[in-house]
Amino acid sequence: MSHSPCYVRPAAAQDLHQLAEVLTSSFYPPLGWWRWLYPALRFGIYEDLKQRLQGGAAHYTCLAAIADKTDSAEEWVVGTVEISCRHRNPWLMTSRKHLYLSNLAVRANCRRQGIARQLLQGCEQRAEQWGFHEIYLHVMEDNARARHLYQAMGYHVHRVEITLWSLLIPRPRRLLLRKVIPQAAPSPKSPVR
Ligand SMILES: CC(C)(COP(=O)(O)OP(=O)(O)OC[C@H]1O[C@@H](n2cnc3c(N)ncnc32)[C@H](O)[C@@H]1OP(=O)(O)O)[C@@H](O)C(=O)NCCC(=O)NCCS
Repeated sequence: MSHSPCYVRPAAAQDLHQLAEVLTSSFYPPLGWWRWLYPALRFGIYEDLKQRLQGGAAHYTCLAAIADKTDSAEEWVVGTVEISCRHRNPWLMTSRKHLYLSNLAVRANCRRQGIARQLLQGCEQRAEQWGFHEIYLHVMEDNARARHLYQAMGYHVHRVEITLWSLLIPRPRRLLLRKVIPQAAPSPKSPVR
């Protein structure tokens, strides 16, 4: 792995256009007929993200990976990820909550430089600050790049999601992955309770 030429910070309103571009180009590359839908998809992603950023929800953050050196005065967003607190069972609002990671994406021309790895480490730091000891996320069975990344970062398959739709039509399944965040050893000076 080459040295990652970026740093990670919380995303801000001025990043929205670039974040929407990174997400849209990563999840819906403008190839073939998709390119006709691209502006509409980017607009939808922009508006959704804007609402989440402005929402002020507790235990929500969007992180942006910023390229260290660029010629332009504007910061260049090269990757992003979101982490939020969700109910374990979305249909049962009384179920326990867990930390859920989503929308991890890195610009295509900046991949394999350790940027996603840095973003995931940023999420783990957030989780620790908030007092959570595990993180969950979904990945599609056929997303080999992402699965390699998550495996390398210590995520394991927690559950294979089976839906009526997936039983009727053979297609890649959604996997729920989980990582238990290693606890930092207590400092020898801290009092034992
Ligand atoms: C998946 C994704 C976020 C990886 O970003 P990245 O910055 O290239 O990842 P990193 O450089 O941090 O890679 C870290 C490790 O992940 C694994 N990995 C990443 N890309 C890989 C690839 N194309 N093939 C195999 N392993 C890969 C490797 O183990 C890698 O470590 P190494 O480079 O030392 O071998 C990026 O490819 C992407 O944005 N994909 C499209 C969006 C997406 O699928 N997001 C995930 C949704 S669940």
